Amino acid sequence: MTGEATTIAVLGVDDVATLRDVRLAALRQEPLAFLSTFDEQVLWSQDDWARELRRGTWLVATDHGDDVGLLGATSEDDIPREDRYASYMWVHPHRRRERIGTLLLTTLIARLRADGVSSLWLWVMDDNPNALRLYEGAGFRLTGDRQPLAADPSRHEVRMVRRL
Ligand SMILES: CC(C)(COP(=O)(O)OP(=O)(O)OC[C@H]1O[C@@H](n2cnc3c(N)ncnc32)[C@H](O)[C@@H]1OP(=O)(O)O)[C@@H](O)C(=O)NCCC(=O)NCCS
Repeated sequence: MTGEATTIAVLGVDDVATLRDVRLAALRQEPLAFLSTFDEQVLWSQDDWARELRRGTWLVATDHGDDVGLLGATSEDDIPREDRYASYMWVHPHRRRERIGTLLLTTLIARLRADGVSSLWLWVMDDNPNALRLYEGAGFRLTGDRQPLAADPSRHEVRMVRRL
């Protein structure tokens, strides 16, 4: 069960520091789950983070004032204009398996659907079974696209899609 105190907030233009802090916490804590690294993104300026915030829709899970999860959706060149990519998915390690990740996804999906978005895409490492199960449980399906990581070709990411 998700704790009753867990709420999902949509970040606004003034929430640059929240996006930066939660994202850097995720990268520091879980370096193998993401393509970007802490060392890269810790160098971003205030303007870089403000640009990132404007680029998409960002949800933060909050509990008693603590930020315990993050998820974003952005437009990208390799998907249709009316679709979005999900990225930055992370739940604080002390709060996993409480369906906070699922709550972030269902909240994002409802919001995107209301905005007329057709499909939500994502890439996930194929050596990340917890994330794969989370996405399958939220209705995502493998597309068959699979590619090696540029930084480590022995690892692969797979693409999934959820029709809205
Ligand atoms: C993947 C992650 C976001 C899951 O968040 P979460 O809040 O723990 O996920 P949920 O509680 O909503 O789990 C939903 C389902 O996913 C599966 N799952 C998630 N974590 C699991 C685990 N540790 N072991 C087994 N199954 C797991 C289960 O099927 C679970 O449903 P169930 O608990 O009813 O069996 C979290 O583990 C995380 O932040 N991992 C590190 C960052 C990461 O990998 N991000 C994804 C990048 S693509």
